[in-house]
Amino acid sequence: MHTHAQRTIDYQLLVDHLSTSILLVDTDLNIFYLNSACEALFDISSLRAANTPVLHLLEIPDDDFDTQKALRNTLEKGQAYTRREAVIRVNFQNLHVDYTVTQMQLDKTQPVFLLIELNPIERMLKIAKEENLIQQHQVTRQLIRGVAHEIKNPLGGIRGATQLLARSLNDPKYNEFTDIIINEVDRLRLLADTMLGSRQLPSYVDVNVHEPLERVYSLVSNQTKKKVKLTRDYDLSLPSIQADRDQLIQVMLNISVNAVQAILENKAFYRERENHPELIFRTRIQRLVTINNILHRSVIRIDIEDNGPGIPADILEAVFYPLVTGRANGTGLGLSIAQNIIHQHNGVIACQSIAGKTTFSLYLPWESQHVAK
Ligand SMILES: Nc1ncnc2c1ncn2[C@@H]1O[C@H](COP(=O)(O)OP(=O)(O)OP(=O)(O)O)[C@@H](O)[C@H]1O
Ligand SMILES: [Mg+2]
Repeated sequence: MHTHAQRTIDYQLLVDHLSTSILLVDTDLNIFYLNSACEALFDISSLRAANTPVLHLLEIPDDDFDTQKALRNTLEKGQAYTRREAVIRVNFQNLHVDYTVTQMQLDKTQPVFLLIELNPIERMLKIAKEENLIQQHQVTRQLIRGVAHEIKNPLGGIRGATQLLARSLNDPKYNEFTDIIINEVDRLRLLADTMLGSRQLPSYVDVNVHEPLERVYSLVSNQTKKKVKLTRDYDLSLPSIQADRDQLIQVMLNISVNAVQAILENKAFYRERENHPELIFRTRIQRLVTINNILHRSVIRIDIEDNGPGIPADILEAVFYPLVTGRANGTGLGLSIAQNIIHQHNGVIACQSIAGKTTFSLYLPWESQHVAK
């Protein structure tokens, strides 16, 4: 019994509140304990992780570094070590981490453990490139709007004058020509409207991203009629976000339509590879993502992925720019509009593409407590 009031600390609670990920590993190199941050990092529960080999988490194929040997060395000799920018595999994605391994004995009667502290450094690197894009993109966007505006201005006049002309000519044999002018003017006006982008201010409401995603899913599935296998891989525990539902649909649709076009216009690609067109809608929580210099503890990631031929190499770096297109009759506005919308939601769209796998990932923040970098 303590004679005077003494504060005690619940160390378990303390460790679970650390933002550093902590792993305890036993002498067989099996996981003995991991704290909450670590559970979140690897997206596994302590229950599932307990007694599984730690090498499953720390080792990736084709790594020159002998993780097992290094861990054993620390166990036996007590020599701590730190690995910088190590690559680990989390949910089929590469994650860069710094980690430190130290030997630890809880008390003399107990066996030795390895204490591994991990600090993820990834995502900031990767998305920085996209951020550059956003900034350049906004300048171009202004330019485009200016041009669209100037194109649109005289169109009304041309259309009106043509109608007057048609009426005063009053001769069916000229109608063909005046109709051409009117139709082309209408087409230009539509294009200019798309270039200007929507004038409506976004209205933000609570949205579960699966809702718009399901809408797009059914639209695409109607459009492709079994020609494309559609796969849904949702993390249904995602929190809802403040977003404009219609705009999200537009973004997801623009990206999906591109994928479907790439698939259906390249049947030969599938014939050669003897596989079938597939489009995947995937949702995930993604830890530690920096967007626009703001580090988010976690954001929502929505992947729209196809197994088509991939984005042509010459436009890959610039796909999000307006007017960049790889298709004969494309306007090259779809992705630029999509990026713009997601940017207004404080998010970003990133893209990775090789032949057989093209992924557009929407990163959308959902929590309000942002941590400044
Ligand atoms: N999933 C994909 N697979 C292959 N290429 C793609 C894919 N998504 C986009 N692209 C390429 O990126 C280009 C730009 O796409 P974007 O949606 O911005 O314009 P667009 O589809 O050409 O025209 P718009 O969408 O305005 O009608 C496309 O023309 C296409 O070449
Ligand atoms: Mg498009």
